[in-house]
Amino acid sequence: MARLCLLCFFFFLFLAAPAASQQLYFSGFQDDAAVAANLTLTDIAKIEQNGILKLTNDTSRLQGHAFYSSPVRFKNSSDGKVFSFSTAFVIAVVPEYPTLGGHGLAFTIAPSKNLRGLPSQYLGLLNAKDVGNFTNHLFAVEFDTVQDFEFADINDNHVGINLNHMISNVSTTASYFVDDGPTKQNLTLKSGRPIQAWVDYDSSVNSLTVALSPSSTKPKKPILSFNVDLSPILDEFMYVGFSASTGLLASSHYVLGWSFSMNGQARSLDLSSLPSVPGPKKKHTAFTIGISVAAVLIVIIAICVAVLIIWKIKNADIIEAWEHEIGPHRYSYKELKKATKRFRDKELLGRGGFGKVYKGTLPNSKIQVAVKRISHESKQGLREFVSEIASIGRLRHRNLVQLLGWCRRRGDLLLVYDFMANGSLDNYIFDDPDVNLSWQQRFGIIKGVASGLLYLHEGYEQVVIHRDVKASNVLLDSEMNGKLGDFGLARLYEHGANPSTTRVVGTLGYLAPELPRTGKATTSSDVYAFGALLLEVACGRRPIDPKSSSEELVLVDWVWENYREGKLLDVMDPKLKGDFNVVEAMMILKLGLFCSNDSAAARPSMRQVVRFLEGEMGVPEEISAPKVMEGGRNGEGFDDFVNSFASSSFNKFSSYSSTGNKDMDMSFASFSTSPLSLLNGRD
Ligand SMILES: *[C@@H]1O[C@H](CO)[C@@H](O)[C@H](O)[C@H]1NC(C)=O
Ligand SMILES: *[C@@H]1O[C@H](CO)[C@@H](O)[C@H](O)[C@H]1NC(C)=O
Ligand SMILES: *[C@@H]1O[C@H](CO)[C@@H](O)[C@H](O)[C@H]1NC(C)=O
Ligand SMILES: *[C@@H]1O[C@H](CO)[C@@H](O)[C@H](O)[C@H]1NC(C)=O
Ligand SMILES: *[C@@H]1O[C@H](CO)[C@@H](O)[C@H](O)[C@H]1NC(C)=O
Ligand SMILES: *[C@@H]1O[C@H](CO)[C@@H](O)[C@H](O)[C@H]1NC(C)=O
Repeated sequence: MARLCLLCFFFFLFLAAPAASQQLYFSGFQDDAAVAANLTLTDIAKIEQNGILKLTNDTSRLQGHAFYSSPVRFKNSSDGKVFSFSTAFVIAVVPEYPTLGGHGLAFTIAPSKNLRGLPSQYLGLLNAKDVGNFTNHLFAVEFDTVQDFEFADINDNHVGINLNHMISNVSTTASYFVDDGPTKQNLTLKSGRPIQAWVDYDSSVNSLTVALSPSSTKPKKPILSFNVDLSPILDEFMYVGFSASTGLLASSHYVLGWSFSMNGQARSLDLSSLPSVPGPKKKHTAFTIGISVAAVLIVIIAICVAVLIIWKIKNADIIEAWEHEIGPHRYSYKELKKATKRFRDKELLGRGGFGKVYKGTLPNSKIQVAVKRISHESKQGLREFVSEIASIGRLRHRNLVQLLGWCRRRGDLLLVYDFMANGSLDNYIFDDPDVNLSWQQRFGIIKGVASGLLYLHEGYEQVVIHRDVKASNVLLDSEMNGKLGDFGLARLYEHGANPSTTRVVGTLGYLAPELPRTGKATTSSDVYAFGALLLEVACGRRPIDPKSSSEELVLVDWVWENYREGKLLDVMDPKLKGDFNVVEAMMILKLGLFCSNDSAAARPSMRQVVRFLEGEMGVPEEISAPKVMEGGRNGEGFDDFVNSFASSSFNKFSSYSSTGNKDMDMSFASFSTSPLSLLNGRD
């Protein structure tokens, strides 16, 4: 709080010197003519009344730039060697949500004041066409608060040196060395507190260093050093300044003060002199000093209270612009709290990868709902949340669990779904010998899920990949109709666009073998998971069953063996006691094998699957082997995967299943140490 008050008072000071030893010094940016003439602000950057340079506010998808108006000479001649330079600046990042920054800012040296950058992960610096091009002549030190896999970011709180590219040449977690000792202390960029950064380039030894500190004194040890000759990167005349952007999530990005020096050490900024209230005039008597101090204190307190109130209001149920764009109904937090009886444990229906699901009854309409609560610590959760409401709000199909509405309160994210009276499919087909589904019910559920999935793939304006089709995501309403739920992992991509490479998510046994290799979820990887679902519904077994003998461990292999030996129906769920339609059962099993083919190209599309299920088309008489055993090309990915799973995580998972998580749910996104997480979108 004090920090915010401190920011309220600024003064400005400026020094200019001839080219080769140019110095800039802004201790705050008072909004007067000199600053206006010396700084070029573009996009939404502006100088606030109190003298803070505000690059962006916390509205989504903005960018802001501020450059020193005149070009700065970096070389004696166009092919000369770049001079040494040094800069210090104080930044503050105040995120819209307490723990979620978006996106970041960068100290920038560029050939032009008018960058044609994009917001979000591009930080307003570059765009998709020019990223990485050596003709950019762009140097940036980024302060990035979002982990972007496309640009190989190490985490969501890092400092990196970027040359012509958004992929940092070196980067490290934001941190500083305490008291010049060996102890490194982490710094949270998006804490909202002022952080001073020093960037020094020593041209005689081609060394570039970056140091950070929450105080006025420069630590002796930098956190980043990079040996690089900037001569090919920087032109003779360049513009220096700052660039920032916001994405889906947003922060306000501020620069409080800046000093820059060519061929010399930049003066560090005195944090206390940046914000402190101008003291009483020297000639004042003790009395007037007392009065002024009291007055100043009152002003400070008043400002603090005002800021606190604004802060409170901002954190309360304020509806942001982007929230208006989101389709379904927005519930009030109160309503949902009442509906779920204050999120009582007794109302808990289950626990998903990203949050808990509660049963509730809406106070006015008395409609029963399921409320998924995503905890705010999980950044993953928010990302899912945003994608979930933006994408599924407008999806409507009788075989999809309908999203009725949602609510955000501070970090708490709540999604309201239709309540499904009969819970999830896995409770019926696995383990419990006392509950059963007839063949007719099973066949009906399969047909329902298939048509829901077809709608996602082809029926909507965008292709929606479900990414996590499995029995526990199939929910049953009071009439035992199957509905696909949990679109938390859904990502959209435009029809015809290349599915973007992202982290591998899904559940072991339902993951198509190409997924860990390519990292690209496609409609055919959904078909693969649907194939696994078909087999488990028919056989009453999980796709990988640790309790089975080794030849039965992998369900699809076991079904294939039986198919090859001409005794396919032997695999049918014993709980059915032989009471099933033989033609349908054969069709489901063959279709299961068909969909489980290791080669994505060999799998049918969901449209074909639905036509098979509706009897409009016959499943091919001969199904080819899902794995090509000879030559070893095909099986490898999945088998290695299963083997390493079997040898390394077996015990962990058997105990996992006995503690109630029967699903062996393995959302790789949440297992950061799993070898698969190394495959995150970097092919
Ligand atoms: C920058 O500031 C200085 C000092 O106030 C002033 O003399 C100069 O005209 C300003 N403008 C430019 C473009 O340097
Ligand atoms: C942020 O700036 C944009 C552009 O100036 C403006 O439209 C928007 O209302 C601002 N948002 C907030 C929260 O002040
Ligand atoms: C630039 O030119 C000046 C004067 O000619 C010279 O003293 C200086 O060493 C040169 N700097 C570099 C980096 O070449
Ligand atoms: C780099 O940019 C230049 C000039 O804009 C362009 O001619 C060239 O094709 C670009 N190179 C690549 C690899 O995109
Ligand atoms: C910096 O990184 C970019 C992008 O990865 C690469 O093209 C460039 O060669 C690197 N430059 C240096 C000096 O390492
Ligand atoms: C600092 O942050 C990094 C990355 O998030 C983490 O691995 C490390 O444990 C943290 N160190 C301390 C001292 O908190």
